[in-house]
Amino acid sequence: MTLVFTTLFILCLTSRTSYASRTPCDFNDEECITNSFNETLPAIAAGIPTLGVKPSDPLKMEIIIGVLPKLTYIFRNAVMTGYKDCIVTNALLKLETTKFIYDLLCPSIVLKGDYEMNGQMFENVINGKGNGTVVTENIHIQIDADLEKYKSDTGKEHILIRTAQIEHHERTNVVIGFDHINKDNDELAAKILKRLNENWLAASKYAEGPAFRFAMNLFIQNINTYFKKVPLDELFYKV
Ligand SMILES: *[C@@H]1O[C@H](CO)[C@@H](O)[C@H](O)[C@H]1NC(C)=O
Ligand SMILES: *[C@@H]1O[C@H](CO)[C@@H](O)[C@H](O)[C@H]1NC(C)=O
Repeated sequence: MTLVFTTLFILCLTSRTSYASRTPCDFNDEECITNSFNETLPAIAAGIPTLGVKPSDPLKMEIIIGVLPKLTYIFRNAVMTGYKDCIVTNALLKLETTKFIYDLLCPSIVLKGDYEMNGQMFENVINGKGNGTVVTENIHIQIDADLEKYKSDTGKEHILIRTAQIEHHERTNVVIGFDHINKDNDELAAKILKRLNENWLAASKYAEGPAFRFAMNLFIQNINTYFKKVPLDELFYKV
């Protein structure tokens, strides 16, 4: 019994020491906040079971619905991969205005699922159903978040993301792979898919929004789980 308690005591001591050895960032030090969030974000994306943080990569989504002016789509059993490899190129914490703005550069974001899509994309009539895969390379994503500050039961200050504006900006390439994008005519389907891939920038910017924002909001919920567990003064540290 004594041994068990001694071991526990040493474990506690060790974990406290490792936390204490971290030098917290000055919240106005943009470089420190950036480097720190760049280090913690991949871990959050991978999931941290001990803190109850669910994985965001792979991110499993039962259903995604996209409704655009001329196109609607549904993805079932969808999986998004790639958030683990995103680099935080810039992060800015403005506590006075409760804002947290960060930029990600993600080398490869892959969305897969059983899709159904109906409507029109540019001059192409779409009536598709099958397997869908979209690979987006080197995409810049900006998250402009409004924060809430609160004190936990232990009196520690925490932040949470309340709402976020999510913008998907430039990317270097998008590969669009939808089986049977015209489910009645394979030849036409192949032509449409070719045209969409030739116009990958316009096609992806037109259609990706609802799916990508849905996925990113789930990632943000997982980031919030981390923010609930780790007090503000331990969130950002010198790396
Ligand atoms: C972010 O972390 C990656 C490793 O995950 C590293 O290669 C990169 O240089 C870091 N970037 C910044 C801005 O700190
Ligand atoms: C999707 O692809 C899998 C194999 O990757 C295949 O078993 C399945 O039948 C395909 N589904 C449709 C609707 O084409």
